[in-house]
Amino acid sequence: MEYQNLHTELKENILYVTINRPLKLNALNRQTLQELAEVVTYVNATPEVLGVLLTGSGEKAFVAGADISEFSDFNVEQGEQLARDGQNQVFNAIENSSKPFVAAINGFALGGGLELAMACHLRVASENAKLGLPEVTLGLIPGYGGTQRLTQLVGKGRAFEMIATADMITAEKAEKIGLVNYVVPASELIGTAAGLLSKIKQRAPQAIAAAIKATNAAVDTATDGYEVEIKAFADCFGTSDFKEGVSAFLEKRKASFTGS
Ligand code: COA
Repeated sequence: MEYQNLHTELKENILYVTINRPLKLNALNRQTLQELAEVVTYVNATPEVLGVLLTGSGEKAFVAGADISEFSDFNVEQGEQLARDGQNQVFNAIENSSKPFVAAINGFALGGGLELAMACHLRVASENAKLGLPEVTLGLIPGYGGTQRLTQLVGKGRAFEMIATADMITAEKAEKIGLVNYVVPASELIGTAAGLLSKIKQRAPQAIAAAIKATNAAVDTATDGYEVEIKAFADCFGTSDFKEGVSAFLEKRKASFTGS
């Protein structure tokens, strides 16, 4: 796959995706969002990919937000389209992918950058990372799901404080409030994120997809999450991986899953 603003590499069933606009602190312009949407489609359609590690190039930023220069003259209709397309094609698509995405936050994760990290299933941050939703300083609010996902992750009080003050928080604080799963020295960031994916990729892929679906349903107020869990649980019984997992346990050997 050739992209203008992303660098991708498939290693041992993990797709490493690096957003590569370091001079603009990896800000999400239209082209980058389009390429991220293509990555999600590719990942869902490619059995060899068992997980995605998403990071930013350079040492300064994961992603410093949506590209402000692209929407500076937008009207109400264009603003709505921007948010709707972004949510549907990228942010919700990542969250609803059948493969796990892990964000390796290597610096600033601001605005759309933090929203991108929150759309991922797990987040690891380097000690120097700074996280925030500064949209109100621009006369906006987060539009790529940030008001919803931050509230789900850290609770309404903390989410509102971050959104309304526009303050950045440290990686340490982010870990304390449950916004990131781990904080590690910068030199260990990619290794830690890859380690999580290496563990997950040994599990039954269809069970992982079912776990993503069911945990997403838990925070979808329009859906009965318990019902989604029942169906997803039941579907697992129809997979070869279920038979292999149970046989391996009974035969006291390591399971070898095929994703079928
Ligand atoms: N959109 C477009 N360009 C951006 C950007 C964004 N969200 N964030 C950074 N850039 C660009 C800057 O314009 C600058 O480009 P230039 O060199 O061509 O002028 C370059 O990236 C470097 O950023 P700079 O501001 O010079 O770095 P800094 O170290 O002084 O500050 C930040 C770093 C992250 C604090 C600052 O860039 C910033 O506040 N960015 C915007 C964050 C934001 O509001 N995001 C939400 C968007 S909805």
